[in-house]
Amino acid sequence: MRIDTKISFVVLLTVVFLEARMHVREDLASLRKVLFNYLFPKDPGMVRVRRLEEVKTVNNVSTLDFIGLVERYDYIAEEHYITTEDGYNLVIHRMSGTPLHVGQKQRPVVFLKAGAFSSSDVWVLFGPGRDLPFLLADEGYDVWLGNSRGNTYCRSHVKLSPQNENFWRYSYHEIGTKDLPVVIDYILNYTNQKTLHYIGYSMGSTELFVLLSMRPEYNAKIKLGICLAPTAIWKETTPLLEYVHKIIPNFKEFFYSNEIYEIGSLSSMNIMMGRTLCADNTVTQAVCIAIMFLIVGSDPAQLNTTILPVLLSYYPAGSSVQLVDHYIQNMITKKFQAYDYGYFGNYKQYGQITPIIYDLNKVTVPLAVYYSTNDLIATKANVLETCRHLPNVILLEESKLLNHFDYISAIDIKTLVYDRVMEVIQKFNNKI
Ligand SMILES: *[C@@H]1O[C@H](CO)[C@@H](O)[C@H](O)[C@H]1NC(C)=O
Ligand SMILES: *[C@@H]1O[C@H](CO)[C@@H](O)[C@H](O)[C@H]1NC(C)=O
Ligand SMILES: *[C@@H]1O[C@H](CO)[C@@H](O)[C@H](O)[C@H]1NC(C)=O
Repeated sequence: MRIDTKISFVVLLTVVFLEARMHVREDLASLRKVLFNYLFPKDPGMVRVRRLEEVKTVNNVSTLDFIGLVERYDYIAEEHYITTEDGYNLVIHRMSGTPLHVGQKQRPVVFLKAGAFSSSDVWVLFGPGRDLPFLLADEGYDVWLGNSRGNTYCRSHVKLSPQNENFWRYSYHEIGTKDLPVVIDYILNYTNQKTLHYIGYSMGSTELFVLLSMRPEYNAKIKLGICLAPTAIWKETTPLLEYVHKIIPNFKEFFYSNEIYEIGSLSSMNIMMGRTLCADNTVTQAVCIAIMFLIVGSDPAQLNTTILPVLLSYYPAGSSVQLVDHYIQNMITKKFQAYDYGYFGNYKQYGQITPIIYDLNKVTVPLAVYYSTNDLIATKANVLETCRHLPNVILLEESKLLNHFDYISAIDIKTLVYDRVMEVIQKFNNKI
């Protein structure tokens, strides 16, 4: 299995390079298709289990589900099912009880939304005393965690199968305008609350900005927004997207012509690769770390290498080609705007020939923004430019150390960021 995964890793890189740089001969085209189906599987082929014993006995390529991750620490978790107006079946999670607060009613709600290619799992990988949802639950908050269409929990639709390309025609525009409102309404109704605190990490913040600019009435439902490493306006490009754009100039066409609409899915093969190539005491771990640091910024001091195989068993958790293409478009145009479908497509979609520009002026909720000068994605220049357009930033906090992943994975993230996030929420909560 190990040799197999190493070979596929090398093949992946080779194919992507070859394909991007030259036209592959006809007889190679069918081989390419086989390889692409292997590397971008249409069926994830992984097993989610709820108890650790099952992980050991079923097979290696299995992971705990959200409830399993939480219940192993004797906290109580729930799964809730919501369908969007356009038919996507979403699964969201709730940490409804802790050993400290049993059966307490009417607690203030905090909703957490992670970034691109993430699921609710990434918030609960390390446990109580460390992860934000556990810390919040210990303080008596009712903690809810979102998932977006297309991720590992949400590969379902009332009509479309994930095998159908139309399932994947979405980006953070649809996540912000269609997933978020129905999820927020569901939570408020379910908990009988009028407002919630929103914590958005990376694209989780982008989605909040999209929602509030397109549907400003939702400002009234959010008491406070916490933005961890938010992305919106790209003043500077990020090395990863720049590189991808360079080798695959027409990103969407390239993947669509190979009948690939979903990328970065959580599949048995990706999990195997992470677990075998990035584990402690493997020669390849250095490569994993080098690649990761190139993408998100280097921070060896805060990286616990032991957890890499764990992280890579839950991330990336899948999204659409169009979503990445949307980021690339925004990065090139340096505009925070809806997906550009071309003249006719835009007219059909938005009733105008250019994409809608998201008006950040309409994001009037109080926002606490956290960023780092060491983050290669939500760079200081990008975050400050975005904040310049946001009318109600009540707190802007800079860190020198953290890279883009550190908001989830840094060894000392609790003292570096979470403790103060909790303070701000507490302060706002007491205010009203
Ligand atoms: C798979 O699981 C078995 C038994 O739990 C273990 O001995 C083996 O090392 C695992 N293989 C990998 C590649 O992790
Ligand atoms: C609101 O919640 C109640 C009970 O919690 C439920 O019966 C009702 O269907 C919900 N309404 C909406 C619009 O979700
Ligand atoms: C790194 O992670 C492992 C496994 O979770 C843990 O045992 C160890 O204490 C961690 N090291 C640091 C420095 O946090």
